[in-house]
Amino acid sequence: MSKNRLVIANWKMNPRTLIEAKDLAKSTRTYASKMKNLDVIICPPAVFLESLKSSSKTKIGAQDISKEEQGSFTGQVSAKQVVSVGASYVIIGHSERRAVGETDQDVAGKVLQSVVSGLLPIVCIGEKIHDTDGEYLKELKEQITIALSLIKKTELWKVTIAYEPVWAIGAKEAMSPHDIYETVLYLRKILSDIYGKTVGTSINIIYGGSVDATNARSIIKEGNVGGILVGRQSWNMDTFGPLLKAVDSII
Ligand code: PGA
Repeated sequence: MSKNRLVIANWKMNPRTLIEAKDLAKSTRTYASKMKNLDVIICPPAVFLESLKSSSKTKIGAQDISKEEQGSFTGQVSAKQVVSVGASYVIIGHSERRAVGETDQDVAGKVLQSVVSGLLPIVCIGEKIHDTDGEYLKELKEQITIALSLIKKTELWKVTIAYEPVWAIGAKEAMSPHDIYETVLYLRKILSDIYGKTVGTSINIIYGGSVDATNARSIIKEGNVGGILVGRQSWNMDTFGPLLKAVDSII
């Protein structure tokens, strides 16, 4: 992957129909093709994956995969299956998955399945409450440590960490760039302690949670992150277009 900034478009359970999904993907592709400094990963509902084409500036990603390789798991979709319909990325451990019971161990299993199947994992971690006595740092440490525990150090270059404080997702305001900066430093320190400095400094960490066209620039620059994970603002080009422009203009 290039050094371009990553913009993950998490469509969640939108839009309503395949026709609308194709339309949105097409306008996203057209917009992204004019950008120089970013790559967009469109993550639609699994049922639309096969119909949405990737391009040089837009790749396709799944929003989740099973931690199992294959078998009797009704309703689940495997890493290999999403690869076979053109996905190159997968979001793993999103707080909306964790909210319905996904554990850190499940996340670890999914990360393993993704790397052995050739999918690049975007691993979401984030505290539920940003307390003032630092308890949230323990929560983050546990999440990140367990999430990566089943893969080899040599596979870590495939991983993008999405730091998404749960309280900032679907909210009115994002975390402040200063707080993002500090937390990302902390995450790099944890990874350096476990895997050594090279991994700790080079692993790609992005931010997600109420990013929009007005705050994207300062989040990326002052927060010192390699990109953003965008929910609501990616579902419509009236909001996503200006957001992409803002990110692309960062020097
Ligand atoms: P939001 O969602 O941009 O709508 O806050 C972010 C996310 O779910 O990761």
